[in-house]
Amino acid sequence: MKIDGTPYRSVWVDPDDGWSVRIFDQTKLPWALEILRLTMVGQAAHAIRSMQVRGAPLIGAVAAYGVCLALRADASTAALEHDSAMLAATRPTAVNLRWAIDRMLTVLRPATPADRVAVAYAEAGRIADEDAAQCEAIGRHGVELIAAAVARTGRRVNVLTHCNAGWLATVDWGTALAPIYMAFERGIDLHVWVDETRPRNQGAALTAWELGRHGVPHTVIADNAGGHLMQHDQVDLVIVGTDRVTRTGDVANKIGTYLKALAAHDNVVPFWVGLPSTTIDWNVADGVREIPIEERSGAEVTDVTGRTADGRIETVRVTPSGAANPAFDVTPARLVTGLITERGRCAASAEGLLSLFPERR
Ligand code: MRU
Repeated sequence: MKIDGTPYRSVWVDPDDGWSVRIFDQTKLPWALEILRLTMVGQAAHAIRSMQVRGAPLIGAVAAYGVCLALRADASTAALEHDSAMLAATRPTAVNLRWAIDRMLTVLRPATPADRVAVAYAEAGRIADEDAAQCEAIGRHGVELIAAAVARTGRRVNVLTHCNAGWLATVDWGTALAPIYMAFERGIDLHVWVDETRPRNQGAALTAWELGRHGVPHTVIADNAGGHLMQHDQVDLVIVGTDRVTRTGDVANKIGTYLKALAAHDNVVPFWVGLPSTTIDWNVADGVREIPIEERSGAEVTDVTGRTADGRIETVRVTPSGAANPAFDVTPARLVTGLITERGRCAASAEGLLSLFPERR
């Protein structure tokens, strides 16, 4: 995707030295666009844990490059196992993280220590390229839903999204936002309702920034506004991303997604989920009981960071109490209209997923 005309990905190898890893510091957005240089595996782990990078596909790709950095320091089997386990433990909910590290281990365990660095960079590069291609394909399969909504309503289409599932959350394009970018490129008249996504405000800070830089019409709303807008026919469809989908179609995503799905169901608003197949956990059937939900610091709820009128970035406290902070929730498959994957759209069900991924039967 482009920032002010310059094409970027969300993670890339520095072309000058050919090995260090570049990312945007997403904790600084939307107020500053800062590029970080990662040179050690500990920095990659910190970037994921502190959410300098976040979003399921992106943390998978950054973890893969983290393995590359680890091997530059020590290519022994013991270090490979230790550093991979350390990276895998940085965040619990998004399955892409575990998937990417397992894929790296599969090619690296049989390699000799002398070959491992080259093998690792090649595999991490493939993971990144494949994610970008998969997200572009999600866009192609999802844009048809937006085009159909135009045909149905004969007016501007209003899409509601939650959290950030745009190109900042993936290597490129995004998942939920890929169809929106493609609809915009096609000249389809659309507008996006952007949930602010408390407590970390990925919608207000990241999705609004992405859409704004691209020129896509959008409005940030309080997380509590979606149900009201749906009751008044101001939402034609909901598209969200996901951190893990069970083989039965349950969807883990940023906290608050479930409430949007309930409101959409009550108002007969289609509720779609965009995902690359790397987000499917084929080992899990019951999302509510089996998917680990990350508990983050209560400080993310009690404290809010923003820019003052004179341009300083300040953090203020908004409650006298402490807070609980479950970071994800699970939307049961019965509330999901369908899934948009790189292979096409399907029902959120075991049969639906197997129709697109028959090799998993
Ligand atoms: O805590 P985050 O910001 O990593 O959570 C991200 C989300 O919940 C996204 O909606 C999800 O990863 C889909 S990203 C394509």
